[in-house]
Amino acid sequence: MKKKLFLLSSILLLLSTILWVKDMFEPESKQYKVEYYELQRNAVKKKLQNTNGEEEIAELEAKLAKLQKPKYEIKQILLKGDYSWADQTNGQKTDRCMTCHIDEAKLTASHETVVKDFPFDIYGCTVCHGGTGRALDEEHAHHGIFKHKRAMRQRLDHADVIIDMWEEFATLSLEDDAEWASFKNRTITGEKAIYMGSGKCMRCHTGLTAPHVERWKRVKFESFNVIKEAPDYIKGDVEYRKQCYECHTTGYNKETGTYEEEGITCEACHGPGEVFAYFMDIGKATEGQKIAKITPAYNNCGGTEGCHRSRRHEMRAKFFRNSKEHDPYEWYQPKYKRIVSEALEKRKSATGKVIDSTLPKHNIKFVR
Ligand code: HEC
Ligand code: HEC
Ligand code: HEC
Ligand code: HEC
Ligand code: HEC
Repeated sequence: MKKKLFLLSSILLLLSTILWVKDMFEPESKQYKVEYYELQRNAVKKKLQNTNGEEEIAELEAKLAKLQKPKYEIKQILLKGDYSWADQTNGQKTDRCMTCHIDEAKLTASHETVVKDFPFDIYGCTVCHGGTGRALDEEHAHHGIFKHKRAMRQRLDHADVIIDMWEEFATLSLEDDAEWASFKNRTITGEKAIYMGSGKCMRCHTGLTAPHVERWKRVKFESFNVIKEAPDYIKGDVEYRKQCYECHTTGYNKETGTYEEEGITCEACHGPGEVFAYFMDIGKATEGQKIAKITPAYNNCGGTEGCHRSRRHEMRAKFFRNSKEHDPYEWYQPKYKRIVSEALEKRKSATGKVIDSTLPKHNIKFVR
């Protein structure tokens, strides 16, 4: 009896050892790759049967030969974050999800509405999905993942989540740092954020923050009308005028040469409103406020990139200097007084009321 028990337990031990060793050399992730390569091979074989062209056949046969001897390796992305990338260490920023989620065509297709042309190989998956990037078995990898569409959407109800994601993207993409750093210009999927137009903002803010809206409506909103009367703008060709749009319109797109609105409207300073106006719309204004703020990191006013940088009118100075018809210093004369008084004049004649011409005081505060 004792002998039999001993024999049985020995066999059990041996079996479990064999299973353990097999597991060591054949990790769970391999099974998905075996399936993947099987599918790929079948697809190529099917194509081969329906192909006649000699060249195409040779190409497909070469592809098939490669697929017959697949490499079952760990697909690992060392995310180009600030610390782990620099010294190639496997920190938290190692993302191995694609070891199992190996089918890039399938990923691209299933993410079409979420992340168009998203470079998975740079950003990985955990930045959006959560989970444990380093793990190679499903249970650990999926631990803490945001399951299903609804969970992902719920996460997007809070500005902090979006801001964190933006900030992570910014640290993960050192190459186009500058672009991601001004994260308001992007949605979390990397696409350019949409400008909603000042009409959208004013629907709420004319009542909410009247002095601020009044101030800019009278001055900056109108400024493009002055530009249109400038002699150099009138004489200038398309290319010359494009130089003006950068600072005198809202949402100018250098690539397409088009702008969203004339003049400096709300979103010229506060950034495209797609995300924050959405929050304000769904009754989560406190979340929207976090994004709408003008911060040192997002500030179009001055600096080397802002509108009020020095020498911004050098093309105009050149035009007037070279022109015989115009006062060489015309470009230097501020004309805002005129627009304001004209606007007030118009209102006075329309309403019959005298309006206080002093502008409401602008209380600039920068909040981080
Ligand atoms: C060991 C293999 C393996 C690893 C590693 C792995 N996954 Fe998965 N994952 C699967 C399998 C299998 C499925 C279910 C089949 C499918 O939908 O493709 C799945 C499904 C998913 C789903 C869909 C869940 C749903 O509810 O529809 C998401 C999202 C996902 N994985 C994300 C990740 C992320 C993010 C990582 C990295 C942190 C990761 N996976 C790592 C194997 C793996
Ligand atoms: C920018 C954010 C983002 C990134 C990066 C991202 N995903 Fe997703 N993914 C999503 C969202 C959002 C969904 C839900 C889409 C839906 O159901 O409409 C999703 C859905 C999925 C699904 C389920 C697809 C289906 O058919 O139901 C899988 C699996 C998945 N992702 C895996 C991955 C893997 C693997 C990576 C990395 C290679 C990755 N994702 C990178 C946002 C992202
Ligand atoms: C559905 C109404 C609504 C719309 C549309 C809307 N907002 Fe708001 N916004 C609010 C509310 C409510 C607040 C909070 C006001 C408060 O608490 O004083 C707010 C706050 C703000 C703040 C304050 C941020 C800070 O410093 O705390 C800014 C800036 C702002 N909105 C800009 C905009 C811009 C620009 C648009 C257009 C793209 C816009 N809003 C569209 C309702 C709206
Ligand atoms: C880099 C930003 C920038 C560019 C580019 C730019 N401007 Fe301006 N412009 C400004 C700023 C800022 C003001 C406000 C003047 C001030 O500082 O008070 C202004 C004011 C003006 C005014 C009002 C009168 C005045 O001098 O104050 C006119 C007219 C004008 N710009 C024409 C143009 C034309 C025409 C172009 C294109 C050839 C152009 N600007 C390109 C930034 C720019
Ligand atoms: C010329 C740039 C500029 C324009 C145009 C502009 N703002 Fe502002 N706005 C600012 C600055 C700077 C602040 C102060 C910093 C901050 O809180 O973001 C501010 C603050 C605010 C605030 C916070 C409350 C307050 O009154 O200080 C709200 C709300 C706001 N803006 C909404 C708007 C709306 C709506 C428009 C369009 C009608 C608009 N802004 C146009 C620059 C601008």
